[in-house]
Amino acid sequence: MIALASDHAGFAYKEKIKEILQQRGISFKDYGATSDESSDYPDFAHHASEAISQGECDRGIFVCGTGIGVGIVANKHKGVRAAMCQIPEAARLARLHNNANVLTIGERLLDWETASEIITVFLDTNFEGGRHTARVEKIHSLTNK
Ligand code: RB5
Repeated sequence: MIALASDHAGFAYKEKIKEILQQRGISFKDYGATSDESSDYPDFAHHASEAISQGECDRGIFVCGTGIGVGIVANKHKGVRAAMCQIPEAARLARLHNNANVLTIGERLLDWETASEIITVFLDTNFEGGRHTARVEKIHSLTNK
């Protein structure tokens, strides 16, 4: 189950991401925003991050104007490893090395072609494990988050 979140500035891409997930038969839960009316990204990113923390969703894709605000919120939640990606290679490495469970992107910074490629890579790449396993575990043990 993928948790989706945005604010007004990420709303259009969030709706397009839903189409990608529907086409691929991937289930998702939409934590808002519900329109492109001005709103506050922490409200939506917080609820979606909690769903991941509590195991109700296994991954998330969050969108705001830059991808930065929703990423800051996400990384304050226990068990969440959010990666803001602007190129597909970053999404690939975020999955391979960091086992990132949340992708954040900026609708104002990325054209849709690039954004959709990043999303595809995020969905299709598995954690490499091995030497990265202990490092990823330390993220949580050292921060107690
Ligand atoms: C909204 O104007 C914008 O600040 C927000 O979408 C995001 O980019 C914040 O990080």
